Amino acid sequence: MINLKNRDFLKLLDYTPEEISALVELAADLKAKKKNGIPHRYCEGKMIALIFEKTSTRTRCAFEVAAHDLGMASTYLDPSGSQIGNKESIADTARVLAGMFDGIEYRGFGQEIVEDLAKYSSVPVWNGLTNEFHPTQMLADLLTIREHFGHIRGIRLSFFGDCRYNMANSWMVAGAKCGMHITLCGGKDYFPDEALTAQCRQIAEQTGGSITLEEDPEKGAKDADVLYTDVWVSMGEPMEAWGERIAQMKPYQVTEKLMSLASDNAIFMHCLPAFHDLGTSIGRQIHEKYGMNELEVTNAVFEGPQSRVFEEAENRMHTIKAVLAATLA
Ligand code: CP
Ligand code: NVA
Repeated sequence: MINLKNRDFLKLLDYTPEEISALVELAADLKAKKKNGIPHRYCEGKMIALIFEKTSTRTRCAFEVAAHDLGMASTYLDPSGSQIGNKESIADTARVLAGMFDGIEYRGFGQEIVEDLAKYSSVPVWNGLTNEFHPTQMLADLLTIREHFGHIRGIRLSFFGDCRYNMANSWMVAGAKCGMHITLCGGKDYFPDEALTAQCRQIAEQTGGSITLEEDPEKGAKDADVLYTDVWVSMGEPMEAWGERIAQMKPYQVTEKLMSLASDNAIFMHCLPAFHDLGTSIGRQIHEKYGMNELEVTNAVFEGPQSRVFEEAENRMHTIKAVLAATLA
């Protein structure tokens, strides 16, 4: 098993291509063990803290189930039920929790918060999503791609929508590290940070990958192996942002037309949660105000034969388990 003992997992920029690939392999191995009922309690008796300053279904459940399968217990801290940020600084929280736990997961706002937590913590810190990066999601997505295509290097992935937030940033980094061809497709106002783009392009030069920014959705979809999208307004952004976002992002909705331009064997992926119908309260509010039934992806694509979104969601657990095992066992 890959040994990353005591390493933080804050962003994929901190990891080599070999380490990323080894984590995906470990996740595949742990997934097979789970499916075959083979115990893998590599972290027996340990205990981890899960800090969530933003809501979560997948990430929280993935950490809890993974911890359980590895023989660990976990404590969940939400923003209303702890002192974090209000009465106690991140630096103090890090030192308190490190005295009781073997590792700390953090989901919240700025990347600098999770970096700070790691700086003051003597136990590993794992990033469960910040405004800038969502590295555990990337491992799950890479595993899903590997399962479908049999390999990761050379895969052409096109991301549609908000290209300046955590998911698009993470794809630039993950794709560059893994030798993939990443196209970020959206309006110019939503293009990614120039310094990060330049850094990822430099990495891609070493791995045979590439980063392309594209405004034309049809060009972006053409011959892609994976069409990927994310919500148009992320957690922590104001509800008022929806009006402008819908106007700007509508051309980048992933539709059956866009899917038909992709490669024959193409798949659709989404980190979830997704607005693909009127099954959510926010979806219904947006429908009443703006008249749209589906947002970043049409229901036909989401529910269609090329969609891999639920396999992807399951893989969150297997890949987070790999990170926990590699950094703790
Ligand atoms: N994809 C993802 O991070 O989902 P949650 O917000 O439910 O954790
Ligand atoms: N960009 C989204 C990702 C959710 C997994 C958000 O930050 O809300």
